[in-house]
Amino acid sequence: MSRAPIDPAIFPSLTEVAGSLARSVGAVIRSLRDAGVDVAATKSSAVDVVTAADREAERLLAAGLAELRPDDGVLGEEGASRAGTSGITWVVDPIDGTVNYLYQLPAYAVSVAATVADDSPAGARAGNTADGRRAVAGAVYLPVTDELFTAFEGGGARLNGEPLTGPAETELGTALVATGFGYTVERRTEQAEVVRRLIPQVRDIRRMGSAATDLCLLAAGRLDAYYERGLQPWDYAAGALIAREAGALLLGRDEALPGEPMLIAAAPMLARRLQAEIAAAYAEL
Ligand code: IPD
Ligand code: CA
Repeated sequence: MSRAPIDPAIFPSLTEVAGSLARSVGAVIRSLRDAGVDVAATKSSAVDVVTAADREAERLLAAGLAELRPDDGVLGEEGASRAGTSGITWVVDPIDGTVNYLYQLPAYAVSVAATVADDSPAGARAGNTADGRRAVAGAVYLPVTDELFTAFEGGGARLNGEPLTGPAETELGTALVATGFGYTVERRTEQAEVVRRLIPQVRDIRRMGSAATDLCLLAAGRLDAYYERGLQPWDYAAGALIAREAGALLLGRDEALPGEPMLIAAAPMLARRLQAEIAAAYAEL
């Protein structure tokens, strides 16, 4: 599925599109939240919910992309799916952290990433993920704190326009490590067991409830590490690019690419150390 490479000269303009859509849709979901929110449906389990705001936000993102980037494809958490002809596919999560949104907790975000399909060895070195794509531009907007995280490949990561320098190296024992849990009982039970083994070895664990937020907080140096098993491309596409461009190393299990089977992000030495601990924990399950 190798394609002709996309000209990197367009990455800054893709970042502009991502940032302006994430910001405008973020403002809409914040005002919908103020008007009150109910569960519209459940997905993989009774606790995996979708609200009318998730659907409206995805509709707005898809409409905005159709207008601004009509030749690109779109893939969204709530079902948006359009094939494009340009080689760029926008991977969007209209509300990452839907349970926080439902409970009026602040950690929710709009995530918008322009991705390219690339299975070349150079692509793997550059930051391909397990879904066979690589984000080349993206934005994550946190409406409650009015924080817009942006990045494009080779251009560094920014928070509200200011460059981010990423997480510092720290020992595992002093690392503040964020993670998340899936929505099925089987997955959660396994993840709880991994946390049980990890927690005596780290400073502490955080469970923010939004993978996109976790990856951006890592990029801002407000977390030392993040890992999660079971993420979907829309959860991590923009956030992984932002963390990587801020200087974090993104790893999967063993030699695998980061993504659904496992995504680990931290300063390089800590990422490798955490990868070894997670592998040991899974080996003992
Ligand atoms: C979820 C959040 C959560 C992570 C889950 C995701 P959603 O996305 O990112 O932090 O632990 O794996 O599914 O359902 O809030 O869009
Ligand atoms: Ca999500």
